[in-house]
Amino acid sequence: MFKEKFGEGIISAKQFNREDIEYLLKKSREMVNSTNSNLLKGKILATLFFEPSTRTRLSFESAMYRLGGNVIGFQSGDVSSIKKGESLADTIRTVENYSDCIVIRHSMEGAAKMASRFSKVPIINAGSGSGEHPTQALLDLLTIREECGKLDGLNIGIMGDLKYGRTVHSLAVLFSNFDVNLYFISPKELAVRNQEKEFLIQRQIKFKEVIQYRSLLDLLDVLYMTRIQRERFVDIEEYEKVKNVYIFKQEDLINTKDTFILMHPLPRITEISPDVDSSKKAIYFKQTSYGLMMRKAILAELLAE
Ligand code: NCD
Repeated sequence: MFKEKFGEGIISAKQFNREDIEYLLKKSREMVNSTNSNLLKGKILATLFFEPSTRTRLSFESAMYRLGGNVIGFQSGDVSSIKKGESLADTIRTVENYSDCIVIRHSMEGAAKMASRFSKVPIINAGSGSGEHPTQALLDLLTIREECGKLDGLNIGIMGDLKYGRTVHSLAVLFSNFDVNLYFISPKELAVRNQEKEFLIQRQIKFKEVIQYRSLLDLLDVLYMTRIQRERFVDIEEYEKVKNVYIFKQEDLINTKDTFILMHPLPRITEISPDVDSSKKAIYFKQTSYGLMMRKAILAELLAE
C-alpha cells in the first residue's frame, strides 16, 4: 500500500495523511533491532548531495547498509559531471539506470519534484533549497511520539529561521494531521511563510506567531530550535543582524515542564548554548538516532520485494 502511494518517491510532506505517518512511526519502531538484515540485499541506493550534509546522507547510507543493501553517490565538492555543467535532468536520467532509489539534496526549491519527473526509480527529497525536507520532519514526529508518548494535545514551539528553514516547512505541514497548538517564534524578518500559514488555516490548526520565547517556556511540551540559514540570505548584512537573535541557555530550562524536550535538526551553531547539552531535556543527539530508524523504515517500505 505504502509502495503504491509513494512509488514515485517522497517529495513533499503534503503527500502524507495521518494514516501514512502512523504507519511509518510503527514501522520505524520495528527497525530498532534490525542491524544485520538482508531485506534489501542486491538493492542499490544513490545519494546525490549537491549541498552539504552530515546526518541526512550518512543516516540514509547507514540505513541502507544495515538492511543489507549498497550505496553509490556523490557529495557537493566531489567530481561528478555536474562540475562540467551537466544538467540535473541528465544526471537523473543516468543515475536511475544504476540504482533502485535516489536520495537528492539540492539548492533549488523544486529540485526533487523535477527529478521525479525524469526518474523511473523513486526519488527521496533530502532537502530542496529552502522549500522542504520531508524525511527530517518524519523523524522529528517519531522523536516527539517516542519521547512525549503522544502527538495530539501538545504545545509545540518552533523557533528560529522559519522563513528559510526547510525542516520547519515540512514539519508544519505534517503537524496539520494532528491536534496540536503551534507557536511560531521568530523575528519578523524570518517569519513563517504565507504558504504554510494558509495550509494550516485551511486545516484548522491553531497557531500563534510570537517574537519572544521566554514567556512561553512553562507551557511548551516541545521546543524545536533551528539554525539561521546563512546560505539562503541574499544580503549577508541581513544575516549578520539576525544570526544571534536567539540563544537558548541552561537557565531557560528552569521554567520548563519536567517532561519538556528541546529538539534541533542540527547542525547547531550558536542558538543552543553547549551547557544545555547535558540536560535530559536536550534530545537533539538522540533525535539523530530516530533519524536512522525512520530512514530504515522508509527504505524498507519503498524497496523491499
Ligand atoms: C537541516 C537541513 O539541511 O535542512 N539539517 C538536517 O538535514 N538535519 C537543517 C539545517 O541545515 O539547518
